[in-house]
Amino acid sequence: MTDVFLGVDVGTSGVKAILVGDAGDVAAEATTPLGMSTPRPGWAEQDPEDWWRASVASIRDVLAKRPGVRVRSVGISGQMHSSVFLDRAGAVVRPALLWCDGRTTAQCAEITRRAGGEERLRDLVSNPALEGFTLPKVLWLREEEPEAYARVATVLLAKDFVRYRLTGAIATEPSDASGTLMFDVARGRWSDELLAAVDVPRALLPDVGDSAEVLGRLTAEGAAATGLPRDTPVVGGGADNACGAAGVGAVAPGEAVASWGTSGTVLAPTARPVVDPWLRAHTFRHVLPRTWYVMGVVLSAGGAFAWFRDQLARELAGDPAPDARLDQEAAAIPRGAGGVTFLPYLQGERTPHRDASMRGAFLGMSLAHGRAHLTRAVLEGVCFALRDSLSILGELGLAPRTLLLTGGGAKSAFVRRMQAEVYGLPVCTVNREEGPAYGAALLAAVGAGAFPDLAAAARATLARSELESPDPAAHREYDAPYARFRASSGAARPMVR
Ligand code: XUL
Repeated sequence: MTDVFLGVDVGTSGVKAILVGDAGDVAAEATTPLGMSTPRPGWAEQDPEDWWRASVASIRDVLAKRPGVRVRSVGISGQMHSSVFLDRAGAVVRPALLWCDGRTTAQCAEITRRAGGEERLRDLVSNPALEGFTLPKVLWLREEEPEAYARVATVLLAKDFVRYRLTGAIATEPSDASGTLMFDVARGRWSDELLAAVDVPRALLPDVGDSAEVLGRLTAEGAAATGLPRDTPVVGGGADNACGAAGVGAVAPGEAVASWGTSGTVLAPTARPVVDPWLRAHTFRHVLPRTWYVMGVVLSAGGAFAWFRDQLARELAGDPAPDARLDQEAAAIPRGAGGVTFLPYLQGERTPHRDASMRGAFLGMSLAHGRAHLTRAVLEGVCFALRDSLSILGELGLAPRTLLLTGGGAKSAFVRRMQAEVYGLPVCTVNREEGPAYGAALLAAVGAGAFPDLAAAARATLARSELESPDPAAHREYDAPYARFRASSGAARPMVR
């Protein structure tokens, strides 16, 4: 019987499960799609029960593709920050408020005030209060749905909820704890000081283990639901961005990775907690010991492209490969999209604007423009937003010499080249396209003793593509459209608040 490691990623658009052999080969993959509800503009929710159902379906599907294998251990990654509220019996109290939910602006102000100001908050948790983080969601529930809050016994994150259903263990690990705004990212423990200031009991929070440490084993119920053997170990796993970086080998300082999932991020590992003085980027723990990262977050990257495709290119619904078709059309339009600018702030923006009230916009349209210009503008707008994040890494002394690309924007040759040209950096990909699920599987392998540590696991399993260097003249051609993009951000702010 062949031994494999199971990696699961609880994403926003779906739950992916993969089986990875000990040489790093991907033996099988299965994905179950997820919907997202937006009850009001700027709000975003999913039902944790849907995450569990989709996890069970993906695990069952992937196991069915490889009937002869034995799963040695499981690693889980997932969307960050999204709040799971459980009652004393472990039942879900209400749908989760997601990482891209912007309803908690008042609670962010309250947290900052109660902490004693933004500088003090930064000293406590290395980050500012942002709507997407978990703590503001806890305060929102307490203020807006007090009856529901009174029933809450545990607050968990997406992947930790799936772990709970698999193993019965209530646990998290540093990379995801970092995104709650309740974790002292520099010192690696819950911030009792901040919890006291906002009057949230520590008892609501899980214990924190390590990302590659076994934090639970499959219960009889977990085993019956998924088809995995009882007692299979489940390691801590990690936040999707951290696992995505691990899954392409970005585990040491000097590396940097740009990722397009529903959100887009640019992330650079560091050997100490580096904090942006203006708090435009986040500072979180990585999935390996004594390592942090700085990350800029664009809330709508792949999400903006999917919105454009599904809402404004509906006639492609029957097309077998609508994304490739849109890419092809956009590739026929010159750089700069004929003067059309797209601001991708459909759910507000974190980096660099820190403004949940921003909204998306197309600017500069004329009768001469058609769908291909708009498509190109959407892709360029996402690249420009990520370039904003890269510039911040540069200001912090973390400018990379080359950039790893992962996620949707790494799969299309056209978008890869656009990224290289817009950023003005040589880019490369790795031989694995499974993203955070792959990083989670590597953590499972480390936890099972198949590799001494994550760096060794990455070295043994990943190979980089040749660098694609941008043509300097093409990079310069983006200067004016990028300047236009930056100068237009005011148009994304509401005229009346
Ligand atoms: C990061 C963030 C998103 C989610 C996407 O801070 O909110 O990238 O992790 O799943």
